[in-house]
Amino acid sequence: MADQQHVSNELHAYVRAVSLREDEILRQLREETGALPAGGSLQVMAEEGQFLALLVGLTGGRRVLDIGTYTGYSALCMARALAPGGRVITCELHRRWSDIGAAYWERAGVADRIDLRIGHATDTLEKLLAEYGPGSFDLVFIDGDKQNYPVYYELSLALVREEGLIVVDNTLFFGRVVDPADTDPQVAAVRELNTRLLKDDRVDISLLPIADGVTLARKRPTAVRNRVVRA
Ligand SMILES: C[S@@+](CC[C@H](N)C(=O)[O-])C[C@H]1O[C@@H](n2cnc3c(N)ncnc32)[C@H](O)[C@@H]1O
Repeated sequence: MADQQHVSNELHAYVRAVSLREDEILRQLREETGALPAGGSLQVMAEEGQFLALLVGLTGGRRVLDIGTYTGYSALCMARALAPGGRVITCELHRRWSDIGAAYWERAGVADRIDLRIGHATDTLEKLLAEYGPGSFDLVFIDGDKQNYPVYYELSLALVREEGLIVVDNTLFFGRVVDPADTDPQVAAVRELNTRLLKDDRVDISLLPIADGVTLARKRPTAVRNRVVRA
């Protein structure tokens, strides 16, 4: 039986060579972001952006939520993949980062498909719940501050429709989740969410050890959930 493949630098270069389709606009956004003080480490990897676009397409995404805009790479990837008439609502605390992305959204011709909400993401999510109601989003990408991951997850589960998808980034947190001596609040919050997800019968899950760990949580329809609970 095949086991998890260790991805050497050489293999990673091969994966990129045969599957990555990052275009010039995304490449320039990555380059500009890399020169910022916080640099490219906060940004999703190019292959993850491409994966997010695929997931938006697979869910037929018309209403998508992006928690943690930064310079707008994930928002741009997902906006390009929306179904006609669709929208990405993206949440950010600091306008100085999202302003950088806005110029690229414009260049890519998707600015009218991206709705930027500046403020604490918890407030924004609560407002979205009041504005659109529960079950109104096709896909949520959680990539904001890690301490609030458990809060973002619960609000996202309320916002996403049945059979909709929650995608959680950094669920391996640079490998730090396996170090019990690491009690950093960010690491603790990611660990808490990972453990909670395993036991959560409201979702089907898969933790993909790609990038910095990407967890997919698909909201089970109520009928299926009842069947699983009874079994
Ligand atoms: C990991 S980065 C997001 C990267 C982004 N998805 C991309 O593709 O480039 C996290 C972002 O969340 C923002 N952030 C941190 N705390 C926040 C909060 N409470 N509410 C909203 N955004 C927050 C940070 O300013 C930062 O830009």
